[in-house]
Amino acid sequence: MIDLDDLGALEKVDRDGMLAHVRALPEQCRAAWAGVQGLELPDRYLGANKVVIAGMGGSAIGGDLAAEVAGPESSIPVMVLRDYELPAHVDRNTLVIGSSYSGNTEETLAVFQEAHERDCSLVALATGGRLAELAQEWGVPLVSFRYKSQPRAAMGFNLVSLLGILRAMGAVGDLTATLDEATALMAERMPELEPGSPQTYNPAKQLAADLYGRVPVVVGAGSLAPVARRWKSQFNENSKGWSYFEVLPEMDHNAVSGIHFPPGAAEQIYMLFLTGAAAHPRNRLRFELTQQVFEGQGILCRRIEAPGQTTLAQVLTAIQLGDYVSVYLAALYGTDPTAIDDIVGLKRRMSGG
Ligand code: PA5
Repeated sequence: MIDLDDLGALEKVDRDGMLAHVRALPEQCRAAWAGVQGLELPDRYLGANKVVIAGMGGSAIGGDLAAEVAGPESSIPVMVLRDYELPAHVDRNTLVIGSSYSGNTEETLAVFQEAHERDCSLVALATGGRLAELAQEWGVPLVSFRYKSQPRAAMGFNLVSLLGILRAMGAVGDLTATLDEATALMAERMPELEPGSPQTYNPAKQLAADLYGRVPVVVGAGSLAPVARRWKSQFNENSKGWSYFEVLPEMDHNAVSGIHFPPGAAEQIYMLFLTGAAAHPRNRLRFELTQQVFEGQGILCRRIEAPGQTTLAQVLTAIQLGDYVSVYLAALYGTDPTAIDDIVGLKRRMSGG
């Protein structure tokens, strides 16, 4: 196992530079917000009575987060669809955003095509690929950004571009000040999370070391529920490890009961409870009591408080921490955090290659 303070060893395992993308998160958010400032949508879009963001994996999680940011102020529902087919309630009064970094994800393309057939208002969010081509063919807005990385590593662009689209259609207000607060907070926290910060002072390295050899189960509530999903996905894709996520209060009605069998399983688990100032007071109590149930079974638990006052600040600082942890965990496992051979192989087989 490598020493996380050995920068040479870290660089060797992170050969395609995932850490540089993690470091770039605040900058991605700023650049994306600047990029959508001039965005104008056709008048018809402003009357949409709901928004569906269609995407998968790293291009869907930004949608979950955007929906959380929009939730408290938007008078229309914003929902995320990770599937091939639109539900029946989607009609010409719906804005459908096709979100795909590559622009070539089959599920997203299928939904975008169906939304076109239903005469929905459409926006494509892609760096290129078939989705961008369709937007051009059909004369619908294409929001694009230039950032070369794995889709999940461009999450800042994805989330903030989506927020820009929601702003342009009137679902959210001007987020400049909120975004400034969030990016400043991330920038402030970065020095202690960076590889140059020794493990003794570095909470991300410490958490990665604690998680080594265990299955992280990440718990979130409210706006931090999608962050729990993001942590889980980053442990899967960056660290190549097993990981799951749970959501409070729902998990108190099922998962909390399923911790006894098979024998030995509990010893492999590490529960991570993500919380922050915006958590509902009843969920704050649930975090306490649920953690006690797990600890009562001898299961390792850790509470992680996301700093910041706004939803966006909490969500982004929590994501920043999780992203660093997942790369350090990858380094401990000696695996390149960038490569995702299993996902690529499966996509190839699905397309008959
Ligand atoms: O993180 C990843 O690479 C994946 O989860 C992809 O985001 C997912 O497969 C969808 O691809 P795309 O983002 O190009 O639509």
